[in-house]
Amino acid sequence: MTKDRPRQPSGIGILGIGAYVPEGVLTNADLEKIVDTTDEWIRERTGITTRHRADEKTATSDLAKEAARRAVADAGLTPEDLDVIMVATATPDMFFPSTACLVQRELGATNAFAFDVSAACSGFLYGLSIAEHLVKAGTYRYVLVVGAETLTKIVDWTDRTTCVLFGDGAGAAVVGKVSPDRGFIAARLKSDGSLGDLLSMPAGGSRLPATEETVRKRLHCVKMEGNRLFKAAVKAMASAAAGVLEETGYTGDDLDLLVPHQANLRIIDSTADRLNVAKEKVLINIADFGNTSAASIPIALDQAKRKGTLKPGMLIEMVSFGGGLTWACVLMRW
Ligand code: ACO
Repeated sequence: MTKDRPRQPSGIGILGIGAYVPEGVLTNADLEKIVDTTDEWIRERTGITTRHRADEKTATSDLAKEAARRAVADAGLTPEDLDVIMVATATPDMFFPSTACLVQRELGATNAFAFDVSAACSGFLYGLSIAEHLVKAGTYRYVLVVGAETLTKIVDWTDRTTCVLFGDGAGAAVVGKVSPDRGFIAARLKSDGSLGDLLSMPAGGSRLPATEETVRKRLHCVKMEGNRLFKAAVKAMASAAAGVLEETGYTGDDLDLLVPHQANLRIIDSTADRLNVAKEKVLINIADFGNTSAASIPIALDQAKRKGTLKPGMLIEMVSFGGGLTWACVLMRW
């Protein structure tokens, strides 16, 4: 019996990529002075050694615009060429205008329309998939997708179970037509709103508008049930990634690179194990960046491209998981 040919790329893919992280760093030793923790605990339980932290004057759009500039230049385009700008973020500069509109203004991308994608850590992959469809429909040529976060602005610096995990940064990609043998092959976007309480920022919205009491109770900070999220993340990431491979006729062995969201090294290892992907094929940079939420996958891609690890023609699978709950997987030929 002959094996069916695996699904081929759509000819719509990533034309350029860029990333930017703020200069400031916060090491595990710095955190030992803030909360009751140790470098050893953080490294063993999460894989994180250090993370970047934006200063008081820097907001998410400042990081996003730098990553966006680099991605647009990498694609050989100018901001005026952009038709759409999406910013995936859980830490917008403000409720409105959207962070995407702020980025549009800073870039001078006068021909684009702009909006934010709210899907926590999965936002960048949601954005890539939406971008593919916008280009496929034939209405738009160049779609900028940015994942940008300043999670350190919303963590509770008295809660050791969360404040050690997150870092700030941004990554961006320009989506458009590429050669027919390259680009996106399949995507799977999922969510389960019934588990939304496992990771949230309870106050500051219309449910609990800001009051002195909400601020005193630190309800404008990240609240997380780490253990339950851990289990949900491992299950969801592995099943989405395996499902996409099965649906398209590939196996874990066919992959040249697995690019998982960087939330916890143990989650990454377990996902790779379940997919039967060799460790050397997994992009891991959590030690230096922590969990940068929607920015983690494009930052890892940008690093890999600059190092020469990511080469044209490679089969890569990106998989993420985050608040919502949301999870997503995108398979593509780079
Ligand atoms: N330093 C020292 N001890 C700590 C720390 C710390 N920073 N944090 C927790 N501990 C303690 C706990 O208090 C607990 O002590 P106890 O046994 O005396 O009660 C002990 O360590 C074990 O705690 P656990 O919560 O069981 O530790 P675990 O191994 O599960 O690791 C972690 C916690 C790292 C948060 C893990 O559960 C995790 O990574 N969860 C998933 C996070 C995630 O994926 N989030 C979603 C994506 S992020 C997004 O969408 C923005």
